[in-house]
Amino acid sequence: MSKDLDVLLKEERVFKPSKEFLEESNIAKWMKKHEIEDYESLLERTRKDPEWFWDEMAHDLEWFEDYDKILDWKPPHARWFLDGKFNIVYNALDRHIKNGRKNKLAYIWEGENGEVRKFTYFELYREVNRLSNALKKMGIEKGDRVSIYLPMIPELPIAMLACARIGAVHSVVFSGFSAKAFQDRSYDAQSKVAITVDGFHRRGKETKLKENLDTVLESIPSIEKVLVVKNTGSDLDLQEGRDFYWDDVLKDESPECTCEEMDSEDPLFILYTSGTTGKPKGVLHTHGGYAVGSSTTLKFVFDIKEEDIWWCAADIGWITGHSYIVYAPLLLGTTSMMFEVTPDYPDPGIFWKIIEKYGISIFYTAPTTIRMFMKFGELWPQKYDLSTLRILGSVGEPINPEAWMWYYQFIGNQECPVMDTWWQTETGMHIITPLPISNLKPGSAGKPFPTIEAEIKDDAGNVLLEEGGHLTIKTPWPAMFRTLYKEPERFVDAYWSKYPGIYLSGDVAHVDKEGYYWIQGREDDVLNVAGHRIGTAEVESALVSHNAVVESAVVGKPDPLKGEEISAFVILKQSFTADDELKNKLRSHVRSEIGPIASPSYINFVDDLPKTRSGKIMRRVIKAKVKGEDVGDTSTLANPESVDGLDKAI
Ligand code: PRX
Repeated sequence: MSKDLDVLLKEERVFKPSKEFLEESNIAKWMKKHEIEDYESLLERTRKDPEWFWDEMAHDLEWFEDYDKILDWKPPHARWFLDGKFNIVYNALDRHIKNGRKNKLAYIWEGENGEVRKFTYFELYREVNRLSNALKKMGIEKGDRVSIYLPMIPELPIAMLACARIGAVHSVVFSGFSAKAFQDRSYDAQSKVAITVDGFHRRGKETKLKENLDTVLESIPSIEKVLVVKNTGSDLDLQEGRDFYWDDVLKDESPECTCEEMDSEDPLFILYTSGTTGKPKGVLHTHGGYAVGSSTTLKFVFDIKEEDIWWCAADIGWITGHSYIVYAPLLLGTTSMMFEVTPDYPDPGIFWKIIEKYGISIFYTAPTTIRMFMKFGELWPQKYDLSTLRILGSVGEPINPEAWMWYYQFIGNQECPVMDTWWQTETGMHIITPLPISNLKPGSAGKPFPTIEAEIKDDAGNVLLEEGGHLTIKTPWPAMFRTLYKEPERFVDAYWSKYPGIYLSGDVAHVDKEGYYWIQGREDDVLNVAGHRIGTAEVESALVSHNAVVESAVVGKPDPLKGEEISAFVILKQSFTADDELKNKLRSHVRSEIGPIASPSYINFVDDLPKTRSGKIMRRVIKAKVKGEDVGDTSTLANPESVDGLDKAI
């Protein structure tokens, strides 16, 4: 096991739950109903009989036809709620309209320019139906894929729900990704329709998304129609017969549309995420299990009650937004805040202003954002009344104890528990997470959610305690991804082959004596930049696609704010000059290939890269250099002199 896996954290503080949470939280009430005394008994009881737990949770939702069997687990393949007939959208919208939440607010949206749009469940239902009808007319049928390339505007959840309502599979591409990234993902998914926007504002600057998309549409032959939301109102050249404005298409559509009866295991969406090769992985989720898993975790981890206003400040282009801005809150009939703005624009008080303005009661964000707020100082939050808050959450990367304490003290006024939730695009729902009734240790994601069993293992498969190792999950959970789209072998190889039948998360973690998990970070060639996953191979292949570059190696450089920053080592063709101008050109090349988020902060020109005798780049050696650590054993290197070259370049 490498040195990276050593246990680095030593944090001793423990925060106990309040009496109110111990008595009044959703999980406490559920435990009372089942005569379960405390947190440990809850974990024990649900691990003993997971199907009992999930069966009860599934019956909080409405099935067109009940399932015959709760789980069929033939590792690595799980099927949940077999032969149940279900639609997640029926449960997210129609069910509430029948049951008294018709005029409750589903979304409060605020845009960067201060514009506010509100949707009740009924209004959302009618918009979704209109779009479902329009998609049908565009030829979309059950099982067809639709690519969605939209910023954080209400049309984004509407588009996702409209697809799922008629059984189409959506593939959302984060609006911060480049058109090239959209092309790769939509080509892979063979999408028939694209839904996009004329443009959107970020920090006052417009990104013209449709114009960008036009540069790649011809090379995605499967796309027959493009639906364009008018958002900024900029002039566009629409291609006749292919491109249509959203408003023009929807205005004559009926606000009623039958909800397709899906099988519980039918696909709901594909979401592409970074892996260790240049090709992103198409993570596939289903209607039934995903609905049950995402809504149950939100209900118990964040204790959502009827009167709460929930704000998950992520982007819907990532899994956090799919699960906890779109599906889970709507399944619970919650009012959610949806916000277009960046945390420091127009000033670093904007988030706190929103919390005060709408009386947000539960707030969920990423450690990188918390660290940014720390840097701006507590005077910003102190200007606003944050007393409506009752629970805080963190997701996306390890939260350092200092950031946890700052969040707890200055945002939560030492009254709001911080739920540090560990999960992934693949897991679909929280996996390791505290509950409002459990003790909290700053920097630890707590224990596995009820029913779930995790283990830390060494390479040989031995279970480790208080020692860093591979974080694995032993038991199936309803929202688990079912496969990688069109890559069933990669699904098995990447996640299930190291320890057959056991899920390999790709993270390094350790568990302490009391069973608390401490996540240390990724162990594979995947970076975590500001809570977002980026594959080193993706950035490397983008760099190599520039005509100046012969070879490149990308590693993460620890950064106090962003988690990791991208540091690229590049070998140039001889005819090119290693200067700052070329560095900038390479950065903008990566930006247009993948998106701004993948643009390397550091570019280092080198003559050679450390390689093994079989020609494999030793990223471990480069990483050690970047971190200023000892490179360790270099006897397996074919070119040990390359290490000196790294020193000179950094
Ligand atoms: O490394 C872990 C980190 O984010 C990875 C998953 O990234 P993604 O699929 O993009 O989903 C992010 C949002 C769920 C994990 O493998 N990660 C996520 N949550 C935490 C975390 N690391 C530490 N603590 C967390 N709470």
